[in-house]
Amino acid sequence: MTQIDSAEFPALAEIAASIASRVGHTIREMRAQGVEIANTKSSLADVVTAADGEAERLITAALRKARPNDGILGEEGASVEGSTGITWVVDPIDGTVNYLYDLPGYAVSIAATVEDGAAGTMSDGRRAVAGAVYVPTLDELFEASEGGGARLNGRTLRLQESPELALSLIATGFGYTAERRAEQAEILRHVLPQVRDIRRLGAAAADLCNLAAGRIDAYYERGLQPWDYAAGVLIARESGATILGRDENTLPGEALLIAGPRTLATDLRKAIHLA
Ligand code: IPD
Ligand code: CA
Ligand code: CA
Repeated sequence: MTQIDSAEFPALAEIAASIASRVGHTIREMRAQGVEIANTKSSLADVVTAADGEAERLITAALRKARPNDGILGEEGASVEGSTGITWVVDPIDGTVNYLYDLPGYAVSIAATVEDGAAGTMSDGRRAVAGAVYVPTLDELFEASEGGGARLNGRTLRLQESPELALSLIATGFGYTAERRAEQAEILRHVLPQVRDIRRLGAAAADLCNLAAGRIDAYYERGLQPWDYAAGVLIARESGATILGRDENTLPGEALLIAGPRTLATDLRKAIHLA
């Protein structure tokens, strides 16, 4: 296992931020010209636009230039083996359905991850140590480095004390296959009666950043992939959020990821009944 010097993390966050905002501007300009569906993935609802592929190509090229020896893992297929111990995990457009419909909440998410097994490791074995999420339609740049705090357009984010579960606004999301959605509907059936309300904003990375910015009280989702959460979890955690998995013995990740102030996240986990 390669140990990475934590003094490097802020510089990695700067790289993520500058590439995310540059590519974010590009995909917004592309959207103004229209949108083209290039493919579908897990179901007919799971579309890939031409911009998803183009954004991932741009991000990969920029990362290769800035950090030629690092690995890269991208949602749309980017896969580069590295030799430094750092792997960049990329979601070129998180919230593709928002992008398709020209709804504002899509984001570019880029995280530098390591696999050293330290606290904060996710169920995919990785831990983001630096990352950025850029929401082009709002010109909002979220970035964080481990131990260095989280910022929105340069302003430090600190999570406030949370309300009790019954008064909490909870964001969540849904996957693309019918089976996954049936499970998610079952979870929601238990959660919805116990909270103030639910928001389904359409981009997991932005949900986690909205938590850091105090715009929702907590977030949970089942079925997330590393590119959905890598940067967002770091930003939420650095703002003071606790990240939980489905139970004490399971790392957060695909089975379940809960993010929020500690007490609320713990109460939310109790409210989520998993089959
Ligand atoms: C999706 C979004 C959505 C979440 C899904 C993700 P994509 O990512 O983050 O909010 O609910 O689980 O797959 O497909 O738009 O990159
Ligand atoms: Ca995603
Ligand atoms: Ca995506």
